[in-house]
Amino acid sequence: RKDVGRIITGSTGLDELIGGGIETQAITEVFGEFGSGKSQISHEIAVTIQLPPEKGGLCGECVFIDTENTFRPERIKQIAEGFNLDVDEVLGKIHIARAFNSSHQILMADKVNELIQGGVNIRLVIVDSLTSHFRAEYVGRESLATRQQKLNQHLHTLQNIANTYNVAVFVTNQVQARPDAFFGSPTKAIGGHVLGHAATYRIWLKKGLAGKRIARLMDSPHLPEGEAVFKITTEGIVD
Ligand code: GTP
Repeated sequence: RKDVGRIITGSTGLDELIGGGIETQAITEVFGEFGSGKSQISHEIAVTIQLPPEKGGLCGECVFIDTENTFRPERIKQIAEGFNLDVDEVLGKIHIARAFNSSHQILMADKVNELIQGGVNIRLVIVDSLTSHFRAEYVGRESLATRQQKLNQHLHTLQNIANTYNVAVFVTNQVQARPDAFFGSPTKAIGGHVLGHAATYRIWLKKGLAGKRIARLMDSPHLPEGEAVFKITTEGIVD
């Protein structure tokens, strides 16, 4: 893959775990229980993507597909100020798309193509959360196949955007914490397998002691499995 770009997360430990930052031309999935920091990383990279390359960004704009009303301009303000960036300028480069249901979410992803073709320098697409609408709408064993098929279609659209325009795709996936999941791979145990084939990087977030967060890289074909510890502060993600 030529000209792969990378976006810093704010934590050098986390960046190193995934090979130097969130990659373009790839889908990165973070999964974990409620409050594990998925939306916090989403907000952080919506800012860091805008930094120049020498500071860890790509001078790019981003699309934030918000399915659960988790986007917080106030949070962006705090993070942007931590980087000494102009808050209004930063907010202006985050294109919020509220998705009301899964069909709308699929449509929003298709629209990213139009935005880019219209000349907007989108280098990052965030979907927070990728799975919530699909889970809510396709309930029960008999809908599982349809749900998976729709999700695959959506991920295929996102992967195409990533490859065609050298964009990073970052998706979140809320899963339940289960005691057994903390010892073995949760991939099969808690439904993460839905994304198993599309996601290039899968990061499992856990809550640690004293407000710390632990990120574990899962099933990576070319990077060693390992863990990184980071913290969430007012200014955003730090080591
Ligand atoms: P999900 O994983 O999608 O639930 O998102 P999240 O984990 O990012 O959720 P949430 O926004 O609740 O943030 C999780 C944690 O981040 C909180 O429990 C806080 O520890 C921390 N956090 C969130 N906002 C702030 C903030 O403004 N300042 C500081 N210092 N910490 C924050």
